[in-house]
Amino acid sequence: MRIWAQGLGVGLLAAGMVWAQEAPGPEVRQCSICHGKREFKKVQPDGSVRPLFVDERELKASVHARWHCLDCHADIKTIPHPERLEKVNCQRCHFPGNPVGAPEEVNYEGYVESVHGRLQRAGNPKAPRCQDCHGAHGVRKASDPNSLVYKRQIPATCGKCHPQVLEVYQRSVHGTTLLVRGNNDAPSCSDCHGEHQILPRKEQASEVSATQIPETCGHCHGSLEFNQKYDIPVNPVKTFKHSFHGIANELGSMRVANCASCHTAHAVLPPSDPESSVHPANIPKTCGKEGCHPGANVNYARGRFHIDPSRRDAGVVYWVALFFKYLTVSTLAALILHILLDLRSKLQKRAQGHE
Ligand code: HEC
Ligand code: HEC
Ligand code: HEC
Ligand code: HEC
Ligand code: HEC
Ligand code: HEC
Ligand code: HEC
Ligand code: HEC
Repeated sequence: MRIWAQGLGVGLLAAGMVWAQEAPGPEVRQCSICHGKREFKKVQPDGSVRPLFVDERELKASVHARWHCLDCHADIKTIPHPERLEKVNCQRCHFPGNPVGAPEEVNYEGYVESVHGRLQRAGNPKAPRCQDCHGAHGVRKASDPNSLVYKRQIPATCGKCHPQVLEVYQRSVHGTTLLVRGNNDAPSCSDCHGEHQILPRKEQASEVSATQIPETCGHCHGSLEFNQKYDIPVNPVKTFKHSFHGIANELGSMRVANCASCHTAHAVLPPSDPESSVHPANIPKTCGKEGCHPGANVNYARGRFHIDPSRRDAGVVYWVALFFKYLTVSTLAALILHILLDLRSKLQKRAQGHE
């Protein structure tokens, strides 16, 4: 307690926290007298049994091994304690400039401003607090495969509250690549949404707003090397940016098709999969969505969408592009030659006139 008292001051007050004035006496610190017993439980008024055993080994194996129960359950001042206690406030220690050595580089402010943080401030009991994503007594580093926020655990962690999204995601190429094949190249929820600074899709600054999506998918699909590793022949972000949709998107249009309008957000599948929104059989439906191209027919499925005219395998488009390239070059060359010849004859005439 004394070490904290020195560094406290502004930070904690600014974070709106009330720190215990005095450390509770040793008699209060004996939580294990009751909670250390495996069989410790209580029958609730509705007849259900609530287990109250807390395995101290779990705490000792966590990142918080050096902390005491009261450092988190700070509202306990006496024993017996009240039946209902306050929710643990992780931000007691986790804020920029904290004096206890909790990591500083974490975007805590991002959580406060996020859709989840706003709900929490508004008192919505469904809003995730830190412990809903990180756990209570068994908090681990994100790099630990047993952490609730280890890359491959994140879908299940977010899925507790977003079960429909999880269901769809699990069947997508991204979900199966990450969860079934264990390949961390594929995105978990936070690769597309962020970790703490998750914003509603309707807000421009959100990683998944209409105009941000190409960049978000582009973290991975934005280089040809990455795509070729998975037998995807083009850089789809580059070709999208050169397309009509891409240019309008870059200019800020929220209505024009972005990656997720055609591929969906969570049910992304390769075009060869009959379930895919971009399988030729489903193209008329995908392009014909309300507000897009009503009445889209099978012709929309002819040819490819992602075409890089600079690549020979683009077929006719490549040759047409090549033809126009040479046409432009030779026209320009002829023009420049013409100007030069003209200039020369003018200079010659002038020189003759001066003589
Ligand atoms: C004399 C036994 C006893 C001791 C000692 C004790 N507790 Fe409890 N604790 C209980 C009982 C009984 C409940 C269940 C209350 C209920 O559900 O009605 C409980 C519940 C809790 C809860 C859940 C509260 C909630 O709002 O649901 C927490 C957290 C807790 N104890 C932490 C502690 C900590 C930390 C200590 C040590 C400072 C401690 N307890 C010491 C008996 C004890
Ligand atoms: C790193 C912070 C932290 C520490 C240290 C900690 N707890 Fe908890 N504890 C939590 C959180 C978070 C919860 C979930 C409830 C909440 O959000 O407040 C919780 C829940 C509980 C509950 C209710 C269990 C239930 O299943 O409903 C009990 C009892 C409890 N803690 C006792 C203890 C005891 C005893 C110790 C010390 C051995 C301890 N805690 C140490 C953070 C902590
Ligand atoms: C009493 C202060 C305190 C409280 C309360 C606290 N933490 Fe921590 N936490 C720390 C400190 C200090 C570290 C750094 C670990 C170390 O080296 O001791 C840490 C580490 C972590 C880490 C690992 C970060 C890393 O990169 O090492 C996570 C995740 C974490 N805490 C989450 C939580 C969550 C979630 C809660 C609430 C349930 C919580 N903390 C409550 C002090 C606290
Ligand atoms: C919606 C879920 C969610 C909420 C709520 C949340 N976090 Fe996180 N947190 C994550 C994810 C996901 C990561 C990133 C894991 C990674 O680096 O891949 C993370 C990373 C962290 C880290 C760094 C861990 C490490 O080992 O690098 C700390 C510390 C942390 N969070 C603390 C907090 C605190 C404190 C709060 C509450 C203010 C909080 N988190 C709220 C999901 C959440
Ligand atoms: C490949 C990127 C990507 C991944 C992975 C991803 N999302 Fe999304 N998510 C999006 C996009 C894009 C949108 C916006 C769609 C729109 O505007 O219609 C979205 C929308 C959402 C929404 C709001 C709309 C809705 O459908 O309810 C929630 C909630 C959501 N995602 C949660 C999750 C969760 C949970 C996971 C992990 C299981 C996840 N997302 C994985 C890209 C992704
Ligand atoms: C404890 C429950 C809980 C957890 C865990 C949780 N969320 Fe949420 N989330 C909510 C609630 C409640 C809302 C607001 C209602 C809604 O829009 O569904 C929300 C909203 C969202 C939205 C905004 C939807 C929109 O309107 O665009 C996204 C995106 C989202 N969550 C993604 C995630 C991701 C990603 C994770 C994991 C890192 C996660 N959530 C973990 C409860 C949770
Ligand atoms: C974190 C990296 C990452 C992000 C972000 C990402 N993807 Fe992917 N995506 C992959 C990987 C890896 C594969 C290859 C999976 C495999 O073939 O096993 C893939 C496969 C695909 C495929 C199937 C390609 C094929 O023919 O097999 C499509 C379509 C796709 N992604 C679209 C998207 C869209 C749209 C977004 C944004 C909403 C997106 N991806 C975001 C990593 C990512
Ligand atoms: C107008 C609809 C549309 C938009 C917008 C769109 N795609 Fe596609 N995408 C398709 C179609 C259709 C295919 C099937 C193959 C083709 O036609 O090129 C496809 C194929 C793909 C493939 C697999 C390529 C292969 O041949 O295996 C990836 C990866 C991909 N798109 C990613 C993206 C990304 C990332 C974006 C945004 C930057 C995006 N797409 C925007 C319609 C679209």
